Amino acid sequence: MDKDRPMVIFQPSGRRGRVPRGTTIIEASRLLGVDIESLCGEKKVCGKCIVRIEEGHFAKLDVTSSRENVTPWQKEEKRFITKEKKGEGYRLGCAARVQGDVLVFVPEESRAGKQVVSKAARDIRIKHDPAVRLYYVELDGPTFKDPLGDFERLCKALKDTYGLENLKVDLHALRQLPSALRKEEWKVTVSVWMDKEIIRIRPGRAEDCYGLAIDVGTTTIAGYFCNLQTMEVIDTVSMMNPQCKYGEDVMSRITYHMSEPDGLKRMSDDLVEGLNGLIEQAVKGTHPPRKKVKGGPEEEWVEEPEEGRHYLRLSRDDVEDVTLCGNTAMHHILLQLTPQYVGLAPFPPVVHQGLGIKARDLGLKVSPGSYVYVLPNEAGFVGADNVGVLIAEEPYKSDEMQLIIDIGTNGELVLGSRDKLISSSCATGPALEGAQIQFGMRAAPGAIERIKIEPRSSSG
Ligand code: FES
Repeated sequence: MDKDRPMVIFQPSGRRGRVPRGTTIIEASRLLGVDIESLCGEKKVCGKCIVRIEEGHFAKLDVTSSRENVTPWQKEEKRFITKEKKGEGYRLGCAARVQGDVLVFVPEESRAGKQVVSKAARDIRIKHDPAVRLYYVELDGPTFKDPLGDFERLCKALKDTYGLENLKVDLHALRQLPSALRKEEWKVTVSVWMDKEIIRIRPGRAEDCYGLAIDVGTTTIAGYFCNLQTMEVIDTVSMMNPQCKYGEDVMSRITYHMSEPDGLKRMSDDLVEGLNGLIEQAVKGTHPPRKKVKGGPEEEWVEEPEEGRHYLRLSRDDVEDVTLCGNTAMHHILLQLTPQYVGLAPFPPVVHQGLGIKARDLGLKVSPGSYVYVLPNEAGFVGADNVGVLIAEEPYKSDEMQLIIDIGTNGELVLGSRDKLISSSCATGPALEGAQIQFGMRAAPGAIERIKIEPRSSSG
């Protein structure tokens, strides 16, 4: 037996592995890929993470589990676990730390089931004015009479053809320039951000460029993959916010940042990793699905395209623009700006204005020269996501009074017309998603236990 790395086995999933001694059961569950609810961010105040430590030798699993193999009972557990249940081995997963081999049973109500995450985009009319535009140019190659450098030659062509002046160039794009120019006889397509900076150079004529608009919600993240030339949404992708494990609502995440020295970085890193997964998902969706088959001595992957369907076959490099919005806390955590003060009256954010940041500085894996535009924050918890609502719904153009309600874990309201708009925010998660309500839960499997169709009301 490895005393420093005891064995932990979770049931009913059967996931097992060794974890460092002193790890909490919840931390061990994360390490081993088991989802346990932790609505309060492991503060021992929600009681959602209850597990049972089994006692005895389990030959089939080759483990001897003992309740002595976790740290002693803590007073906070009393609030959620009765004396009787305590005797049966129930503990809070965030309180009990692993000291030796244990078999842990995760009851149904403590399992964080996979949520259905779906946020479809609807059609709205918008002016075609993307931040990244494509410019196709044909250049004359250098001669002894005209030995001008590649970049200056390109700038001259862009000025002569499109009137673009004073362009900067991203270093990655500059590195692409010499080979792109020579590959297709001095014909290139240039991607220019805000008509200010060249961010990508491709040989020949390229017709399309793509961008991703991302809404970072407290619980879910949705991405809308768009063709920036046609403004068509080609796919919608979504996922759970990986920060949920630090607590369900914004205050739990802020508290996590304040109580853990590297909490902010940890939450931001998790989010960036999640966003990269979302980008991967969007790009993968442009390729045919693949299936593993036995081919000769080895297994191999083969594509299974749907008949009659055209696949764009894009790569991460084809994502040339990203816009991001989220409530103020999500915004701050992603950018690693302390959300501490937005959590305290009078709730000032670190920054109001929108920010254009190089995607690579945030760790996002898209076209290397591309930017992420982070929408501005309004005030307090009314953040960039509400600005997204205002842009999409345009209540500031309406003669009539409008009320727009965005219900999420954190909810926002906008009331008004072209004369005046008032925004406010509130936590809706406790009411709608079960945070801090003993019998509440999210829209996860089990939320609807059964459906009964009443024959009299359903007929005719
Ligand atoms: S009590 Fe353990 S996560 Fe809330």
